[in-house]
Amino acid sequence: MKGHCERMSQQWWRVIRLFFHNGSYRVKLVCGVLLVLAILWLANRASFIMGWHYDPNEPKLQGSRTCNGAHRYRYTVLLNTWKRDDLLKQSVAHYSSCKGVDAIRVIWSEIEPPSESLLLTLSASVFSSSKTLQRIPEFRVDLHDDDNLNNRFKPIEGLETEAVFSIDDDVIVPCPTLELAFSVWLSAPESMVGFVPRMHWTDSKRHDTSYRYGGWWSVWWTGTYSMVLTKAAFFHKKYLDLYTYHLPPTIREYVRSERNCEDIAMSFLIANATGAPPFWVKGRIYEIGSTGISSLTGHNHRRTHCLNYFSALFGRMPLVASNVKVVPAYQEWFW
Ligand SMILES: *[C@@H]1O[C@H](CO)[C@@H](O)[C@H](O)[C@H]1NC(C)=O
Repeated sequence: MKGHCERMSQQWWRVIRLFFHNGSYRVKLVCGVLLVLAILWLANRASFIMGWHYDPNEPKLQGSRTCNGAHRYRYTVLLNTWKRDDLLKQSVAHYSSCKGVDAIRVIWSEIEPPSESLLLTLSASVFSSSKTLQRIPEFRVDLHDDDNLNNRFKPIEGLETEAVFSIDDDVIVPCPTLELAFSVWLSAPESMVGFVPRMHWTDSKRHDTSYRYGGWWSVWWTGTYSMVLTKAAFFHKKYLDLYTYHLPPTIREYVRSERNCEDIAMSFLIANATGAPPFWVKGRIYEIGSTGISSLTGHNHRRTHCLNYFSALFGRMPLVASNVKVVPAYQEWFW
């Protein structure tokens, strides 16, 4: 039996060798190119030939509203900006071009309202960036009369979606990455879903329970996190109400006066409500403009203080650690 198989394969090799030794170079080249083209064509059509077709709009047409009338398969971008008009223009143009964006709401906390010309430029860029989409996102600037970091979590009028995507004006998340994160949120609408993970470590050197803020380096090293920062994260709009009306007022006061840790406060609130960790979604995000607050020295020290202060006010540490990182299945095809 073995000899038979060997003979068979030898014969096949002879056929192949004959072809390559005897044919002229031009014929070989043409055949080679044709072969490559055929393989590419097959790979491209495989889904079609096998009947693996899925129309992503189908469920959206059937059950596109929740029982409260909100758009289920869209989200609102809550864009937090502060005195950086050029960055604002860039991010408004970018997020207008992403599928699934229902509205873009800019959180404006400067004393001076935005100028006419800035508003005109922004509206025009929303219009031109969303040309290839089926609909133009709604665009609004919500004015706040004080410069307060809590403004970014104030409930706003006229939200048409349950999902909000909270983003800083200097962070760009590519549209496909955003869509992946939104589909994760649809699977877990109570949870926070984001791209910038952080950790609370328990400090073993101290006798009382105390926590230490873990930055990018520690999360990368251990693959463990318990928060995702609200500079780029999805969450349910009900948490805006909870943050503004049910969080201990001392925490909001601390955030206002220290101009820091609003994202830690939101992570505490959601972890306390769900008893579960957030989701970290894989994806490269881009910071435009100059470096932000996190590069200032002493930043982690202040964040550590927030962890300990907030957990004392909550009466416990609500954050839950996780090792889950969501990746798109088509990237991890070799399993
Ligand atoms: C934490 O969750 C509990 C139980 O759901 C709730 O009663 C409490 O008000 C929450 N605490 C804060 C500070 O939100």
